[in-house]
Amino acid sequence: MPLSRAKVSVEDRGYQFGDGVYEVLRARRGRILFWREHHHRLEENARAIGISLVYPPAKWEQILNTAFRKSGFSEARIYVQLTRGVAPRAHGFPTRIRSTVLATVRRHQPLARTVRTRGVAVITVDDQRWGRCDLKTINLLPNVLAKQQARMKKVFEAVFIHAGRVMEGATSNLFAVVDQILVTPSLAPNLLPGITRDQILQLAREASWVVQEREILRDELYKAQEVFLTGTTIDLLPVVKVDGRKIGDGRPGSRVQQLDRLYQDLIHGPSRRARE
Ligand code: PDD
Repeated sequence: MPLSRAKVSVEDRGYQFGDGVYEVLRARRGRILFWREHHHRLEENARAIGISLVYPPAKWEQILNTAFRKSGFSEARIYVQLTRGVAPRAHGFPTRIRSTVLATVRRHQPLARTVRTRGVAVITVDDQRWGRCDLKTINLLPNVLAKQQARMKKVFEAVFIHAGRVMEGATSNLFAVVDQILVTPSLAPNLLPGITRDQILQLAREASWVVQEREILRDELYKAQEVFLTGTTIDLLPVVKVDGRKIGDGRPGSRVQQLDRLYQDLIHGPSRRARE
């Protein structure tokens, strides 16, 4: 249905408590990218907070594919939100409740080419989030505030630092090249296991790169040869400045460009690049 006709109760627990989980997916040419991985994460997250997933996997796929097809967009961004449901406001779980399922499909607006080719600047901020950022919950206030801080400083992203260690961006995961090695923070309760992060790790390993998932100190980030962000809506995005300090020579490095080509081949197919 059109967005203007979609309605959710004011007593939805997502609205009142942030009691829910979500996914952001990309779809193009009639196909949802990494559907299996996103569905798996949604399933795990819903289970972790005791929310019913409502539909079996095939039904989810059918609903989202239908919504994508009906949108008429060739490239879309699909937002899926699953909340515990509607009940009079009381913190504990209601005994009988049905999850609220919401999905929106919007045209995907890729980042401007110049942003990709020049790279972006980021700031670091204190990580004030709760201890289970491995779950993709709709409680995003610290992320919202961090992103706004970045916007005020006219930079693209805010990177969370927890006890001197780099975690992830407000809406992205982070990689760096340190001493010629591709590094990214290891999975922990403070960090989202990004679908893009995982694909990049696989691509790098398939290309026989040395890859480390480990702790990264803020100071190491300042001295890294390359830094880049990953996420469903941004793919790989080179970072050329952290807290005003230049990374490498201040231009996107060769590793991120190489990985980006591999990733674009993966999501668009190699033929597209050959035609360009
Ligand atoms: N965000 N870390 C955080 C905190 C994120 O919010 C996201 C994605 C990622 C990257 O995950 P993935 O590669 O699975 O998209 C990492 C989405 C796009 C959002 O909230 O809009």
